[in-house]
Formats: sequence, C-alpha cells, structure tokens
Amino acid sequence: MSIENENARPWLIPIQTSAIQTNTAGRRFVASAVFDVEKKTHMEYNFNVEDIRKQMTALADRLRELQKAYYVDARPLASDLEYDRLFDELVLLERRYPEFKDENSPTERVGSDLASDFPEVRHTIPVLSLDKAYSAEEIEAFIEKSEKKAGRGLTFVLEEKIDGLSLVLYYEDGALVRALTRGNGTVGNDVTANARTIKSVPLILSEPATIAVRGEVFINKADFLRLNEGLEEPYANARNLAAGTLRRKTSAEVAPVPLDIFVYEGFFEGSDKMDHVKILSYLKRLGFKTNPHISVFAESAEAASSRAAAAGLEPDFFGSFEDIPGCIKRKTEGREALAYEIDGLVVKINETAIREEMGYTEHHPRWAIAYKFESPQNVTELLGIDVQIGRTGRVTPVARIRKVKIGNSEVQNVTLHNRDFIASMELAVGDTVAVSKRGDVIPAVESVVEKNTAGNTTWRFPSECPVCGTPLVERGAHTFCPNPSCPAQTEGRIEFFVSKDCMDIETLGPKTVGELIKLGAFRDVPDIYFTDYDAVLSGVPGFGEKKIQAIKDGVAESLERPFARVLVSLGIPEFGKKAAETVIAAGFSDMESLLAVADSGEAERISSIYGLGDKTAMLLINALNEPSMRERIALLTKAGLKMKAEDGDKDIVDDSMSGQVWCVTGSIPGYKNPDLAMAEAEARGARIVSSVSSKTTHLLVGNKPGSKLDKARALGSVKIVSPEEFAALIGREPFSEEQGSGAGTEEPTLF
Ligand code: IVH
Repeated sequence: MSIENENARPWLIPIQTSAIQTNTAGRRFVASAVFDVEKKTHMEYNFNVEDIRKQMTALADRLRELQKAYYVDARPLASDLEYDRLFDELVLLERRYPEFKDENSPTERVGSDLASDFPEVRHTIPVLSLDKAYSAEEIEAFIEKSEKKAGRGLTFVLEEKIDGLSLVLYYEDGALVRALTRGNGTVGNDVTANARTIKSVPLILSEPATIAVRGEVFINKADFLRLNEGLEEPYANARNLAAGTLRRKTSAEVAPVPLDIFVYEGFFEGSDKMDHVKILSYLKRLGFKTNPHISVFAESAEAASSRAAAAGLEPDFFGSFEDIPGCIKRKTEGREALAYEIDGLVVKINETAIREEMGYTEHHPRWAIAYKFESPQNVTELLGIDVQIGRTGRVTPVARIRKVKIGNSEVQNVTLHNRDFIASMELAVGDTVAVSKRGDVIPAVESVVEKNTAGNTTWRFPSECPVCGTPLVERGAHTFCPNPSCPAQTEGRIEFFVSKDCMDIETLGPKTVGELIKLGAFRDVPDIYFTDYDAVLSGVPGFGEKKIQAIKDGVAESLERPFARVLVSLGIPEFGKKAAETVIAAGFSDMESLLAVADSGEAERISSIYGLGDKTAMLLINALNEPSMRERIALLTKAGLKMKAEDGDKDIVDDSMSGQVWCVTGSIPGYKNPDLAMAEAEARGARIVSSVSSKTTHLLVGNKPGSKLDKARALGSVKIVSPEEFAALIGREPFSEEQGSGAGTEEPTLF
C-alpha cells in the first residue's frame, strides 16, 4: 500500500527509505517502508518531501518552545512523555533525512562523541571583569562617584553575582554560531559544541538578531550534591563542577549534566542606547534565561519603579538609594535559600548610554561594581610584632606585616589580641601568613601559610613595658603594664575620659590631647581641669584664639555631666554605663559612699547588688583602692565635677526611646551617615529597622527622603519626626550650618 501526501506521524518507524524521487507531476517524494505501530503492520508510504521538511521544522519549533518553557521559564507546557515522543520522532527523521537537518536543531542538545580541542577564538566584544567592593559604604561611594561624573541623577540595577563561569554566546541572524569562554578577556576557548547541550541556551532566537550575550553557566546546589555524591574525586564546589563539565572532551559527556545559564549583558547594534533594564527585557524576549532577582534603585523609589516599568521588567525590589544597604543585607542573608550559588551582588548603572563616558580601568568597567560576600584575603610576611599599651595597662600585640592589598585597602598593621591568639597559631616573625578583613573592616591574621626559614620560634612578649620599663605581668590570657603612671596609659585614660560616651568633651579630640601631653600640660586626667590653656596653647601652631576658647568652653561645660557619667569616665575595667546605673540605683549614689565600701573592703555589699557580677564588684573595689585613683578622684572633686547623683539627673542609661521602633530616611543634618542618628536612638533603647512597616513607630525624615516617607504616610500610624524634633528628643542643640564648619571641633561626625 502506498499513500502519498500522508503527514509524517510519530508512530511511523521508517525501516527503509528510498532516495528522493520525482513523480510524473514533478512532485518530489520518498518512498518509505515503515512499521505502523498503530496498525501493527508494515506499510509503504510515499512521503512528499516538502511535507517531511515542514514536519521536521514544525517538530523542531515545538520542541524549542517546550525546551524554553521547561528550561528557561521553568513552566513546562507538556508532559515528559509527550516531549520525549516528539524528540524521538525528530531524531528519527533527522537520521533518515540528514539533508533537512537544521544545524541548530533542538536535538543537538544530546551532544556528540567528537572530541573537541577548544580552539582559541578572538572575542568581538571586550569581556571584562568587575572591580570589587566589600561593604555597603563602598557601594554608596560608587553611586555617588558615578552620579558626580555623569553630572546627573542615575538609576542603578542590582543583580545577583552568579558563582559560575562566564560564557559569551554569539548569535548571527538569530542562530547560535559560537560560544566562547572568557579566556583572557580578548581570546576565549570555543566550547560551542558543549554549550549547545545546555538546555537554557537558545539555539535559535525568537527574532533574527545578531547579538553577543554574556552569561554565567552554573549548576544548581541540589544537582551538584547529587552528582558529586560517590565521586572518587569529588568537586570542591558547584562552580568547579560546572567549569569542569563545560570543558569535557565530548559534548555527549556534557549533555547529561544539568548545566544552566543566566544571561546578564547583551551587545548588539543600538544596545548602547538602550537602558540595561530594557536590554534584560529584550534578552528575555529573545528566549534567554535572565535572572528574575533584580532590584532597581534611583533617587526616589518612584523613579526606580517607573524605569523598571518602562522596560516591562518586574524587579523583585525597587527603592531609593538609602534602601540599598537594607537590600544588600537581605540578599546576603537570603542567599542560602537560593537554588544556586551566588558569591556576591553586582551593581550596574542602568543608563548604558553613559557607559563609555564612565570609562574603563585596565580590566574593569567604571559603570559597574561587584559586591563580594566573602571576606577578602591575601598572603604576606609577618615582619615583626609591636606592642601597644592601652588605658588599663593592657598590652596588645600588633603584627607588622609586609604591606598588602586586602579587598580595596592596604594593610600593614593587624591586631594579634593576646598571648593565646599568638600561641594558637604559633606565630613567629618571618612566617608567611594569610590575612583577611573579617566583617570587611578589621584585618585579622587567619593562619600561618608557611613557617619562616630563619629558625624564628613562637613570638614572646617583652618582659618590660616598652614605654615605661616596668616589668609586665600576666593576668589570664592578657599581659599588663602595672604602672598606672605609664605615659601610654595616661594618654589612653585621658582619651577615654573625654570621649563621647564619657565626659563628652568634643573640643579635646585625640590630636589636641596628644599635643597637650607632648607640651607636658596633661600628665593625668585632672590636668584637663587645671591647665591654663591660654598660657599653654597660645602661639602653638594650629591653636588659634577661637580654638582655645572652644576647648575652655568644652571643659567648663563638662562640669555639668551627671555623677553616673563621671563614674564611668574613670575608666574602671568592665565598669560601663549599665553597671554605673545599677550601683547608683542600689543606693550608692555618691562617690563618698563608694569609697567607704572600698575602704571597708566589704566587696559583697557591691557584689550582692542585683545585676552586678562578683567580678565587676571586685574590679570596682580594687580600682577605687588604688592610690593613683584616689588621688585622681580627689582632684576631680576639687575641680568641681559632680560626685553625687542629683534628683532629675538624666540617667546615664537613657532609655527614653525604649519600646519604640525607629527608621530613618534621607540625610540628617549633622550626621555624616543617617545610621549614626539611628545609633543615638538605639542607645536610648529604640529598635532600629531598615524599612517601614506597620510595626514602625517613628520615622526620622531628613533631606531628600525616599519611599519610606510615603509608606509611613500611607500607614498613618508612624510618627514622622524632623531632625530638629529628633535633636530635642535626644537632648541636643539642633544642627545649624555654622556648626557644620566645626570651629574647634575635631570630630565632625556629630553636631
Ligand atoms: S556583569 C563588564 N553581571 O562576575 C561587566 N557579571 O568580575 C560584565 N558575574 O566575569 C560582568 N554574575 O563572570 C555581571 N549578574 C552579573 C554576574 C556577573 C556573575 C561574573 C562574570 C564576571 C564576574 C565579575
């Protein structure tokens, strides 16, 4: 039986096919002996060649659609069974009619056994990497710098930094022609055959676009664990497995590994005039898999939202610049829950038109920056260990290392904490050490990478104080200089005494204190009140009349500080605000009564106070019994400091904001950073949140507020507080512009 024009059907299994023939009417056909599964019999069909071709195209189109729905959109349109049937049918037809096979057929995903040697091919776009940041502040600085350079307000897109390997896909007229690894940024390895097996790499685009697309190939965490299990030589992480797989010799070995890709940059004619969000949305339309976790930021949340909306993009978050730290925090905390690994975030300028204007460093574009999660590390040599003496006499060892770049800063001094810390690593001078920046701020020695070859053994503390020569003593893991008049201790004591949480003498900053010590005027704390500043400082460079007056005023004003503060300012170890308040509340409301207890040696009268530990009580009594402390207290009393708690004293532990939930928006005059204003609220017992919700009770609104203000207004339950009202609440003078110049002030951070 012979049927012409029969549509090719999936259940037709060709057994033997003739060559293409032409019938009398000039129509081209093939005669095929087939086994018809439905009819369970052998038949002979004559297929019209055009119909076969059409059928193959239709099958390929449908499979492409199903592949995209499954692998790119994660929204399957057909059952696995149906997919497999269509797939197998196309494979069969392609085998029978190889002349009709499309190079970019969806069946290509199965790979081939041909070995590839990944020839080097030149990129037609520069494949750059990103500069790195390790803190939200650096991101803020990047934004500020970019806007300044652009001379106008900009929009920024925050994306996940996928921890995989970079791949560049080149398409011509909508067809994938080449896939290159990043290589050295100019020349990459051709891994096209392997890349074709990645199901989310479209082989044909929805439009005949000629485009280069950058993306990151990765493997899901779950797939990684599954595949790595039982391997003789397991891969260290998902990225290594993905990278290893993409370089397998044959694509047939690659195909079974569920590699995936997110694309994040597109280069095509006119792309330099299209906003980044628009490019992303275009890439999506072409059939690429883009990451949906994208946030957009602008001067205001509204501006950010409208930019995203104009691109038809639905960001997972949009907001004003001040929302960025909160967003970074959320994304950092939320990364565990993602199905794939990310090693940071990427912030990009949305306006691609100004990318060229922003320019490039040798390796990085200036229009984007990567925020890295991991603390940066580097390896360097331990050149020596110095010691520093603190106000309590505690001796802290500090490592001097060969200057090294960690993250974005250069480091050459690193604290080594105490004897135990050094012993645990058996640190010796000359060792090669790994140094990190933990919490991205404080550098720390992490480990010894290589022992020194000079034969140096574990470092030991000097036996004498390098400043005053007194023999050092050991207490627990710490080492101390026991001489209270050691000049190093004096300096530390004075600096602590005048600091913000103590007597708060702003006009006596560390530089001024240092100068006064150098001039011999400050030998101990009471000298602050007995120095003739005019006599000592006039004529000293940097100390004009105005500045000297400011110092005198600051010192005089400090006489008003309540007793609790005076008590804390004495710098008794482990005796802070809370302890002072507790002791006063327990009835020891003046210095006299405390000194009487110290005299009697009845430590239990203090240690029995609820909320105060034995150790704190002992340290207090011991400190008050020290002759130098007694002398100091006597002189401070003579100077007129408050040695007695007074009715109406504002408690040193000011919890006037306890129970309140505060948030801030906009810049707050007098504060370098709005977080510092929130720190003041926190110190008064408030809870601080980064975004406004129904639980928020107060919103401090500064200059250029963002969307938080709208949200607070919409909620109606949030009390809106101006910077002036805030100043009154925390008992400060409101900030005025002249104060901004900080006449005589050394620490301009606050009012
Ligand atoms: S943009 C020129 N966006 O991180 C800017 N990169 O050094 C091109 N990466 O080499 C990079 N996720 O392999 C960009 N959403 C993302 C990314 C991303 C991962 C990788 C990429 C690049 C490296 C940065």
